Amino acid sequence: MMSRYAQVYGEWQSDPQAFWAGAAKEIDWFREPSTIFDPKAGVYGRWFPDGLCNTCWNAVDRHVAGGRAQQNAIIYDSPVTNSQRKITYGELLEEVQALAAVLVAQGVTKGDRVVIYMPMIPEALFAMLACARIGAVHSVVFGGFAAKELATRIDDAKPKLILTASCGIEPGRVVHYKPLLDEAIELASSKPSSVVLFQRPQSTAKLLEGRDHDWASRVSAAKAAGVTVECVPLLGTDPLYILYTSGTTGIPKGVVRDNAGHMVALKWTMSNLYDIKPGEVFWSASDVGWVVGHSYIVYAPLLHGATTVVYEGKPVGTPDAGAFWRVIEEHHVVSLFTAPTAFRAIKKEDPNAEFLKKYSTKHLRSLFLAGERADPDTVAWAERILGVPVIDHWWQTETGWGIVGNPLGLGMLPVKHGSPTVPMPGYDIQIVDESAKPVPNGQMGSIVIKLPLPPGCLPTLWQQDARMQESYLDEFPGFYKTADAGFKDEDGYVYIMGRTDDIINVAGHRLSTGGMEEVLSSHPDVAECAVIGIKDALKGEQPCGFVVLKAGVTRSPIEIEKEIVALVRNKIGPVAAFKIALTVNRLPKTRSGKILRGTMKKIADHDPWSAPATIDDLGVLDEIADALKAKGI
Ligand code: COA
Ligand code: AMP
Repeated sequence: MMSRYAQVYGEWQSDPQAFWAGAAKEIDWFREPSTIFDPKAGVYGRWFPDGLCNTCWNAVDRHVAGGRAQQNAIIYDSPVTNSQRKITYGELLEEVQALAAVLVAQGVTKGDRVVIYMPMIPEALFAMLACARIGAVHSVVFGGFAAKELATRIDDAKPKLILTASCGIEPGRVVHYKPLLDEAIELASSKPSSVVLFQRPQSTAKLLEGRDHDWASRVSAAKAAGVTVECVPLLGTDPLYILYTSGTTGIPKGVVRDNAGHMVALKWTMSNLYDIKPGEVFWSASDVGWVVGHSYIVYAPLLHGATTVVYEGKPVGTPDAGAFWRVIEEHHVVSLFTAPTAFRAIKKEDPNAEFLKKYSTKHLRSLFLAGERADPDTVAWAERILGVPVIDHWWQTETGWGIVGNPLGLGMLPVKHGSPTVPMPGYDIQIVDESAKPVPNGQMGSIVIKLPLPPGCLPTLWQQDARMQESYLDEFPGFYKTADAGFKDEDGYVYIMGRTDDIINVAGHRLSTGGMEEVLSSHPDVAECAVIGIKDALKGEQPCGFVVLKAGVTRSPIEIEKEIVALVRNKIGPVAAFKIALTVNRLPKTRSGKILRGTMKKIADHDPWSAPATIDDLGVLDEIADALKAKGI
């Protein structure tokens, strides 16, 4: 079939407002928007500003009203607890209403923030939807973050209430959430008035009298009382959630997502990009703590009336490298979305895909990859073993949905390994030099998106319009800076080659080396430091920290390095995957004192490098190479 991509992209180009007005018809409105886009509102304009809508209504109630009450909305599959649970749309409505009633009883109303710190269990989805129902703004914090990171987010979002669970489960280890939460609340200057905690059998948390409430008993009481909570009509521009993502410092950026644009964009992608029909099973093997989880575990599949899989497990080790194939077979998954790292992990463990022979993946039509660069080897391997299209697509927490992809629903375009294919409608992608001038095809440059950003993308950072402007809009006037570098080829295919800032991508997780440097500097023996991301065959990149000790420190560097590794785990969390600390006498710098992180990275990655002309002392680079060699890097 000929792809309709060019025609549809052209329709968007010729009349963007008519295009998104058409897409908005797929959503139920309490009041349809009379303005599609207001260029004068907000930092760069706002979508559907006078529409009245509710995301929970569109994700749950309308499917029950429309005849899907008996269809599974959620399939929870948890190899780490050896359990499964299926929740129909009818049951989901009951759960969400009851939890919304608990929130209302705790005084949570429209506009209040609610932090959600939960593992991959269906209750995390109930929590998000209950907030959406009453117009409370949720902020989900990934379970792999430590107390200090949670505290930073609490202080920025200032939640009235926190929804949590007693624990998460990592292979071989129970992660007790309650002590982390208590420590975070202790550290934070903004204290929530209540905590509602879901007790899991693997760990029972002690509740604090007065502040903490037991989730299950409160929800049961609300159900028994038959309390109903209607969906609150919200303005299209009212915030649905805040999701924190790594910035260049230790203070994360609170990406805001509004209600209407988010629904319109996500609903559009389900048919046109992912080629999913309502009623089919879609599986995003990510975590609700990340943007992929927000958009494609929770909101998009439910807005579309599909069934979503909530998987509490890993691609390998729970119990083996056949885990993904089992889930696909058992639940009739038609499309899987995950990070390339997951496939690298499976390939490493089972290069000949022996486990695949035990299962049938006959329902699977496609595999989507995102979150980090999809290396051609892994894509080719996945294509070979699965025999279905493997679609790389590129996006960011900020955009909430794919910027560049291969729209299966419009007819697949030829795949070129190494490229996530072409810009989606809504995105005018340009590759520019430092003065914002387009560069010729084939030439690397900064990837920018012409303003306005399409529906679904961040309108601003939480209560920080100035930071939004300065982080994304100032450098290339009229454009959004993605902070990714890459190029376009003669067919308009986009290639994403890496970040232009100090963000690194470890196992599909976005981390700030600047944030890690702040932790390293806080060690009493450290005079200065630099953290870089170095190549890793499994995780894509891994952090590597260099420290210079203060004069007069006589303790063993090996001890100090161990303390530094532990410090990052305690302050940022295990997800930082910070395992390599190296003590050096000096850091390589330019004559003006700028640390040469780029050159250090090339040395560590064994890439060709040459010393910059501005280097202060050439000999330092040899010292760095020797220190890396001593660690076997
Ligand atoms: N709660 C607590 N700890 C967590 C956690 C969570 N939700 N998620 C991860 N961690 C811990 C891990 O247990 C690990 O701890 P360890 O240092 O004690 O081993 C650490 O954080 C690093 O995790 P990770 O980088 O994920 O490595 P891993 O070895 O546990 O797993 C993969 C490697 C490839 C299997 C895993 O990263 C994976 O499945 N990735 C898929 C990518 C993905 O989900 N990306 C999200 C965006 S699409
Ligand atoms: P996050 O905000 O966590 O989704 O991370 C976004 C960043 O991950 C992007 O800016 C890219 O650097 C990287 N990224 C995401 N998807 C891709 C992809 N398909 N190819 C290359 N890099 C990607």
